[in-house]
Amino acid sequence: MEKAPSIGTPVSRLEGRLKVTGTAKYAGEYDAPDLLYGYVVNSTITKGKIKSVDISEVEKMDGVIKVFTHKNRPSTAWFDFQYADMDAPPGTVFKPLKDNIIRYNGQPIALVVAETFEMARYAATKLGIEYEEETFETDLEVNLEKSKDPKKGLASLLKPPPPEPTGDFDKAYEDSFVKTDLMFSHGTEHHNPMEMYASTVIYEGKDKLKIFDKTQGTINSQMYVANVFGLKMKNVQVISPFVGGGFGSGLRPQQQLFMAVMAALDLKRNVRVTLDRKQMYMIGHRPPTLQHTRFGADKDGKVNAIYHKATGETSKFEDYVEIVVNWANMLYPAENTLLEHQVVPLDVYTPLDMRAPGGSTGMHAIEVTMDEIAYQLNIDPVELRLINYSEIDKSSDKEFSSKQLRECYLKGAEQFGWSQRNPEPRSMRRGNKLVGYGMATGMWDANRMLGRAEAILKPDGTVEIKNAVTDIGTGTLTVMTQIAADELGLPIEAITFSYADSKMPFAPIQGGSFTTATVGPAVQEACKALNKKLFKKARNMANSVLKDAKLKDVDFREGFIMLRSDYSKRISIKDVMAANNHEPIKVKSTAMPNPLTYGKKARAVHSAVFVEVEVDEELGMIEVKRALTAVAAGRIINPKTAESQVLGGMIWGLSKALHEETILDDRLGKYMNQNLGEYHIPVHADVHDLQVLFVEENDDFVNDLGVKGVGEIGGVGMPPAVTNAIYHATGKRIYDLPIHFDKLL
Ligand code: MOS
Repeated sequence: MEKAPSIGTPVSRLEGRLKVTGTAKYAGEYDAPDLLYGYVVNSTITKGKIKSVDISEVEKMDGVIKVFTHKNRPSTAWFDFQYADMDAPPGTVFKPLKDNIIRYNGQPIALVVAETFEMARYAATKLGIEYEEETFETDLEVNLEKSKDPKKGLASLLKPPPPEPTGDFDKAYEDSFVKTDLMFSHGTEHHNPMEMYASTVIYEGKDKLKIFDKTQGTINSQMYVANVFGLKMKNVQVISPFVGGGFGSGLRPQQQLFMAVMAALDLKRNVRVTLDRKQMYMIGHRPPTLQHTRFGADKDGKVNAIYHKATGETSKFEDYVEIVVNWANMLYPAENTLLEHQVVPLDVYTPLDMRAPGGSTGMHAIEVTMDEIAYQLNIDPVELRLINYSEIDKSSDKEFSSKQLRECYLKGAEQFGWSQRNPEPRSMRRGNKLVGYGMATGMWDANRMLGRAEAILKPDGTVEIKNAVTDIGTGTLTVMTQIAADELGLPIEAITFSYADSKMPFAPIQGGSFTTATVGPAVQEACKALNKKLFKKARNMANSVLKDAKLKDVDFREGFIMLRSDYSKRISIKDVMAANNHEPIKVKSTAMPNPLTYGKKARAVHSAVFVEVEVDEELGMIEVKRALTAVAAGRIINPKTAESQVLGGMIWGLSKALHEETILDDRLGKYMNQNLGEYHIPVHADVHDLQVLFVEENDDFVNDLGVKGVGEIGGVGMPPAVTNAIYHATGKRIYDLPIHFDKLL
């Protein structure tokens, strides 16, 4: 069917103006009558017990309504059973205020509710808390002997454990012409979205709540509240239309939601709980991870033996894992593999998915290892990737649904000017600065989940589409509107995408780069169903010019249903509505991958990343002067919002390579740089010329839209590309991220 030109056009974000003018309302900004404010009190010790909490003074303070602790907290259904949210790893979910046990530094131990936020925050400093401290373990390397295989659970569906060993790694490695043996590490990272976590709970009568929550999943939060507090699902509504960045931190319901709901139900009042910036460091993080790679290659550069082991931090109550080691054999078709992933339980809060979890960690080790092989064999790094190019995913022996990575390498190298690189380290200079070119591959999942959508044709000829999905700043509102406009043959002005409300049709959490591939097809299906219904009504109208037509013979364009072979045979949607007595026409659809075929092919998004760095050895500065990412991610619905996603990912990757790290003082068990002044992220002066190139890729397997997702691919290849560029510039290979200049000394 011929399409109206919506998909593929660079439409600016429909909510952009609301956001930049301060008109968009965030979860912590909704007003409510007689609103109360809660402030969370955090443990100042890392492990032990609360001996006593004295709340008497604080409760007498003017404006303080109540202090909740483990002693007086209401009994909720949840304290007696386990409820795991959509992103919970195997283990026991942490329950705030359940008991007096302290499991990690910063653990929420009380909630002070007052008439103003300032009062609650002030009163929180006056609580008399006595602890009994115990010794704790927070250092990954010191506690390595406690590493173990992670528990498996439902989460393993999306995060499959490493594949079983293949061939004979030890022998193949021993026999290899080139052998690498490298150790890698990176520290803790925190998501640090601009918007702080907040929940505004509107108490709508007995057991009925409306909640403005900062989340990446309205239905995930709704299910959590209903289960944890024993409420009916229909009595819990979670709304989250604007989200000031998620990056994974909103994939799990956060502590402020529990606290605000608990207080609202107990006090029968409207309550808001907002976390502050320091408390944003207590809600999950990318785990520090150690990696070991041993690759063996023959003299032509063919990699035939892959060993990749990752050891990551987890908490003592949940086994958080990522896909770190599964990628190498998906990319490079070695016959002999040994892949392992272990976790070390420590006295920290459970780590949490953070933008390209696992992928950005694993590709760092894999692609730096490949660079070393390239140097040992004197083969160009791009050429080495092409020598090891595979059309199948060797780890599953499945064909890729599509893979235009070769084009990414070739087009990316050409546009970047890779051929001007002199491979000799320290050979390129600009003035008194060393110049380095580095490249790497990026790879990420192309997943799809179940989604539902409703389409409503209104009497005025406009269409409302409904789905519970959030828009975490990725452009979801805009691309869903485009998809609907395209399918219905209407201008985007005629479409309203209503979203981010748990009462709307189902969407899973917004993460894993699967939103457009999940909700997009649901929207498309709903629009198709609406077209079908409209067509039937048009055909049945008196003297219909379409009475002999079939659905496949008509186009939906510019508000008309037209016979494709003769556009003069047309019926306007307005006339169909008139014949329908101007009653709205509603349809609902469910869209999900076909379980019989979906697993038959490997599905992935790919990228090739090229980076130029300048290193000033006298001033001690490393700068990424240029970076180009060529991406193959299936069909691009909106080149503007997609480019923004990849650019954001590239800056994120640059940050992982050169800037950000949360430092935990193992004598205190506490993160020491809990603010944006000391948690370094790139500022404008650190970000120079970034380019994104989308390579055409057609994929009719992943879904009918051919969409794979671009949310995370931008961040995956940058850390190794930057590392490799620094090696090329300086002749020094740094294996620990972030690479601060002192590591080069
Ligand atoms: Mo992303 S870490 O799946 O929000």
